[in-house]
Amino acid sequence: MFELSYLTTTKQNAFLEAIPLPAVLIGADQRIIHANKAFSEIFAADYAGRHFVSAIRQPAVIEAVEQVLTGAATATATYAGREGSRDTVYDVFVRPIETDVLVTLIDRSEAEAVGRMRSDFIANVSHELRTPLTALMGFIETLGGAARNDAKARDRFLGIMAQEAGRMTRLVDELLTLSRLEGVARRRPTEKISLTSVLRSATDALTPIAQKAQVSLHLVCPTEPVMVVGDAAQLQQVFTNLIENALKYGDKGGRVDISLSDGLAHDQTPADAVVVQVRDYGDGIAAHHIPRLTERFYRVDSHRSRALGGTGLGLAIVKHIINRHRGRLKIESTLGQGTTISVLLPE
Ligand SMILES: Nc1ncnc2c1ncn2[C@@H]1O[C@H](COP(=O)(O)OP(=O)(O)OP(=O)(O)O)[C@@H](O)[C@H]1O
Ligand SMILES: [Mg+2]
Repeated sequence: MFELSYLTTTKQNAFLEAIPLPAVLIGADQRIIHANKAFSEIFAADYAGRHFVSAIRQPAVIEAVEQVLTGAATATATYAGREGSRDTVYDVFVRPIETDVLVTLIDRSEAEAVGRMRSDFIANVSHELRTPLTALMGFIETLGGAARNDAKARDRFLGIMAQEAGRMTRLVDELLTLSRLEGVARRRPTEKISLTSVLRSATDALTPIAQKAQVSLHLVCPTEPVMVVGDAAQLQQVFTNLIENALKYGDKGGRVDISLSDGLAHDQTPADAVVVQVRDYGDGIAAHHIPRLTERFYRVDSHRSRALGGTGLGLAIVKHIINRHRGRLKIESTLGQGTTISVLLPE
């Protein structure tokens, strides 16, 4: 039978270090015999010889340790903490080893975060759908009552209703796109395609919108077509969204530049990558928003985005597609001067 008292201290400590989890051995006198490195990293101290309560201060965990020290065969608890800016949750397992007690922790933070994200996501979707639905219900009521015989009001309301219904359709389409993308996230595209033609058709398709917004679109590509391994339809979606954003939020600048270059022409790019930049000269984005722009439904100014028909899903889709292509998305912006979004793709 395995008996710890037969082990040398060195071996016993080596055992604890070999456990791939944060683990701490507590003696019958409630003092810490040894905390392994994983444990000390989380609780940021060397606790040998100190009372265990000085390391783990949460009542549920203290209680579980005391139960086992006083004879229970096993006890479990949950430890909720914070590491840096991250909320953490650990399952704590307490087991006796002769008269000592072994405490091991299993990190459950990620599963907790996924659960939280899921409920946030559902709350967001419901909210986004409820806004146009409320508007639709209101207009249906007005059309059935007060505006029943007012042809002019009816036309106007029908126009708004069509717009709101369009917004809901778009939201549902984008959600479906996201979930499809999640399904193929690990499967890299295999086809060799011309990024030059993808950019040409994205730019051409948006030219009427640019003209309406009085923004000039400039596309600069090398003369030889630039080829990448990719999914043409998905990449077209990426650049459509980026150019559309530049037109929607950077229209004040009156100009949007799109450039395509291969790695050699670009200092910060690996030689085997190509880079596409979409640059506008509009209001720019404050630095604290930038890391969050690719989150679903994140918008700097949700009123403005909604008024322009945005759902806040565009950059989340962009990010997914670029990840699938093993590429990188870089957002640089200066308030008052404009925004440059770079997409780096492996050749
Ligand atoms: N070029 C830009 N200049 C200023 N702000 C931008 C720019 N691009 C994006 N943003 C900000 O980032 C937010 C998120 O963009 P994203 O494309 O994800 O959503 P959206 O444009 O609001 O909706 P959708 O793309 O679904 O129509 C936008 O709401 C806007 O506030
Ligand atoms: Mg967008």
